[in-house]
Amino acid sequence: MRADCYADKTAVLENVNAHGSAKVFKECMVKDCTLGEKSSVGDFSRLTDCHLGQNVLVQRNALMFSTRMGTCSYVGKNFVSWHCEIGKFCSISWNVSIGGANHDYSRATTHSFLYSNNFGIKAPEETYDRFSQECTIGNDVWIAANVCICRGVRIGNGAVIAAGAVVTKDVEPYTIVAGVPAKPVKKRFNDEIITYLNDSNWWDLPLAVIEDNIHLFNQKMTKQTAKEIYDLSRRSIKEES
Ligand SMILES: CC(C)(COP(=O)(O)OP(=O)(O)OC[C@H]1O[C@@H](n2cnc3c(N)ncnc32)[C@H](O)[C@@H]1OP(=O)(O)O)[C@@H](O)C(=O)NCCC(=O)NCCS
Repeated sequence: MRADCYADKTAVLENVNAHGSAKVFKECMVKDCTLGEKSSVGDFSRLTDCHLGQNVLVQRNALMFSTRMGTCSYVGKNFVSWHCEIGKFCSISWNVSIGGANHDYSRATTHSFLYSNNFGIKAPEETYDRFSQECTIGNDVWIAANVCICRGVRIGNGAVIAAGAVVTKDVEPYTIVAGVPAKPVKKRFNDEIITYLNDSNWWDLPLAVIEDNIHLFNQKMTKQTAKEIYDLSRRSIKEES
């Protein structure tokens, strides 16, 4: 089945449900995926069992399995992800990996022949689940260049992961973490502001509402601004229901 979207003639699409405005560029392999409105998949990317929301941008050379990405989130080149959920408005830089498999090192071998037939040994019928632990990235998370997020980690809304970090533990909302292993460095705002922003769920606002109120997002944060974003979100949700 060929999806009804723009796809370069060298791209291979199999069982893809794509919005007509989605774009898949050259030499891509996209299988069992949903591609939302105006989403795009960069050259040489390989996506299997993924869902890209509206305006999601995947740059070149991505390798993604069972990954969901919310509205307006984007990833830089050489992104790798397995079995994870990424919220809305996340900015993910180049050379980032999320949710690599955990090989079970308590068995005789950690080698993949226990679950893959690629090595001349028939894999056993039953083996362990390398992806059993959940990996979730909240909304409005900034993941800087060359970050590795380990399997099972949950990252809260608004967090910042500094360049080069290896994240082995959960990250609280609006916290900046850095280093190997990543440790909290500071919070982005004081607790009162964080509560307003975290509870506002502003990332669920229609894009047009965000655009009309862009000044609130484009100024240095104060308690007043956080409260205005919170009130705006509440009003918008009430009007919708
Ligand atoms: C996370 C980041 C934004 C923090 O910037 P900042 O607020 O100016 O941070 P500070 O300089 O106040 O640093 C606070 C502490 O964290 C440390 N730190 C900051 N970034 C770090 C990093 N990437 N790795 C390890 N430690 C880091 C600083 O050394 C400092 O430690 P100290 O308190 O012991 O002196 C920035 O360091 C960063 O990583 N930027 C990523 C840029 C990038 O990758 N861009 C790609 C395009 S999206």
